[in-house]
Amino acid sequence: MEYFALNNGTKMPMAGIGVFMMSPQEAEASVESALRSGVRLIDTANGYMNESGTGRGIKKSGVAREDIFLVTKLWPTVYEKETAVEETLKRLDTDYIDLLFLHQPTDNWREGYKNIEKAYKEGKVKAIGLSNFPEELLQEAIDTMEIKPQVVQVEAHPYFPQTELKKLLLKYDMGLMAWYPLGHGDKSLIEQPVFGKLAEKYGKSNAQIILRWHIQSGNVVIPGSKNPDHIRDNFDIFDFELSADDMAEIANVDNGVRYYTATPEALAAYASMELKEDL
Ligand SMILES: NC(=O)c1ccc[n+]([C@@H]2O[C@H](COP(=O)([O-])OP(=O)(O)OC[C@H]3O[C@@H](n4cnc5c(N)ncnc54)[C@H](OP(=O)(O)O)[C@@H]3O)[C@@H](O)[C@H]2O)c1
Repeated sequence: MEYFALNNGTKMPMAGIGVFMMSPQEAEASVESALRSGVRLIDTANGYMNESGTGRGIKKSGVAREDIFLVTKLWPTVYEKETAVEETLKRLDTDYIDLLFLHQPTDNWREGYKNIEKAYKEGKVKAIGLSNFPEELLQEAIDTMEIKPQVVQVEAHPYFPQTELKKLLLKYDMGLMAWYPLGHGDKSLIEQPVFGKLAEKYGKSNAQIILRWHIQSGNVVIPGSKNPDHIRDNFDIFDFELSADDMAEIANVDNGVRYYTATPEALAAYASMELKEDL
């Protein structure tokens, strides 16, 4: 396992699992399977409505809480809610969160930021971050907030490697956690010829080549999977290294196209979307 050193001295595993679009039962099974396969970073969110299942998966795995890096995100509808972090801890059945993001840059994010800063100071949260924030708002948070964000979670994959954003992150010693690291399973990405060629060269799968490219690009990866074989393979990426030529060849896959772009309408809808945790 390789680690990313956060600017507050915490160590974050470079590879984990994400549980977006899973029912609580599916999240429970994937988290348990991942932890049993050696994965130590879990990414969930209030908005996935499966934090309870994630917490159960952690308990069922038998892995000690202190050996797990648990990541979750506050949803905009609870940014101002004083008990938002406590309720999140309760759903996850844990005393602390290793990394807590604000999930979306809705208009009320500054109030949400105060909320996660408070939790950080109280020790309920060990690191804080921003997800899906455009660069100008990241810069505002860096310039005006008392505790600087330590990690940014954004869409990133070989089609859209976030080249511009990474310059900002490097300047402030902030980490990038990549969502859709495998293009949400899009075959047009996974089956790009360069990945097949390198998969053959290294005796790995195309997905493992993409994930290894992320690691060597400095990105923390949280591939989502309900398939125990994929979960195991997605973690088996630390025993080989892509050459500089391989990395340069993969860079040619960049077409500047992301899968998802937030619209003002979508952000407004997020700000009023009520969450119903399905136990
Ligand atoms: N902050 C945000 O707004 C945001 C947004 C989206 C996602 N995320 C986070 O990012 C995580 C990853 O995103 P994602 O799960 O949507 O997309 P992803 O990881 O890019 O792709 C997941 C898809 O790839 C397939 N897959 C996984 N491993 C594979 C392998 N080894 N070979 C072939 N196919 C494989 C999965 O199917 P199987 O189940 O069959 O393996 C699933 O269909 C999420 O779970 C979530 O934690 C955050």
